[in-house]
Amino acid sequence: MHESVLLTESINYLNLNTKSIVVDCTLGYAGHSSQILKQIPNGFLYAFDQDKEAIIQSDKKLKAIRDNYEIINTNFVNLKEEIKKRTDNVDGILFDLGVSSPQLDEDYRGFSFHKDAFLDMRMNQDQKLRAYDIVNDYSKENLIRIFKEYGEEKYASSIAEGIVRERGKKNIETTLELANIIKENVPLKYRRKGHPARKVFQAIRIEVNNELNVFEKALKDALDLINIGGRVCVITFHSLEDKICKQIFNEVSTVPKELRSLPVIPDKYKPKFKVIANIKPTKEEIEKNNRSRSARLRVIERSL
Ligand SMILES: C[S@@+](CC[C@H](N)C(=O)[O-])C[C@H]1O[C@@H](n2cnc3c(N)ncnc32)[C@H](O)[C@@H]1O
Repeated sequence: MHESVLLTESINYLNLNTKSIVVDCTLGYAGHSSQILKQIPNGFLYAFDQDKEAIIQSDKKLKAIRDNYEIINTNFVNLKEEIKKRTDNVDGILFDLGVSSPQLDEDYRGFSFHKDAFLDMRMNQDQKLRAYDIVNDYSKENLIRIFKEYGEEKYASSIAEGIVRERGKKNIETTLELANIIKENVPLKYRRKGHPARKVFQAIRIEVNNELNVFEKALKDALDLINIGGRVCVITFHSLEDKICKQIFNEVSTVPKELRSLPVIPDKYKPKFKVIANIKPTKEEIEKNNRSRSARLRVIERSL
């Protein structure tokens, strides 16, 4: 089952009242959405997910609480247009990025390098591009780029060369085949520092689901949608997502550098947002749920 990360903290920071209108961009297994729904008997919850299995499970869970919610089965890249069709009034928005534990644990989804499965890694089962297509069709240069950019993998070149060599003999079909190729193409000492396939698998997953570009657009749209006084909470799981969030939050919550020395800041340059929190899980949470170890919660409030 999926254990929600930074659950109490993120719900508290959403600062809800009974009438709040809230958007959960990453419904998953409704850990956060259930808590939100309980707090808004006279409000409304819109919840996005692109994973049909997660939606079926979560719909049952939410129905048992109340019916003032709607699940929107689409990529949150469509956040703005989907919400604008429904309301202009949004008090809280949550992103809890990445994949859920069931996505990782189900062998056939192909996200995990511990379990043998077809190289899939799609969050949206209707999408065409799969990990298999990337591993077997991308040029060596393209593989190196994504391993470096999205995996920060220092042996990107030798791993990509290994992949190109092996797929010349036969297509690489499964997660374990790929994990073994990665293992064989990094130095022995590197194999002792955690699983050598971790970063490359992360990179391929990000590429399959176009995770960073989609998040950047959706976060900017979330800041456009949120009411004055409303908050956007973002839980990230790796440095690249967090970097995007930090940068966007900085841009909207600070006066442009060149204007900082002015005695009075003109109204149109006054920041519309203020940063409320930037926290990590407690030691206790990390001990209980290892998946939370790399998580970080950033919260911003619209003030103007
Ligand atoms: C970490 S889980 C969320 C868990 C949830 N907060 C809970 O406590 O049960 C992330 C979920 O977001 C979904 N997701 C990730 N990126 C998405 C995107 N771009 N559009 C729609 N759903 C997305 C995944 O399918 C997954 O179900």
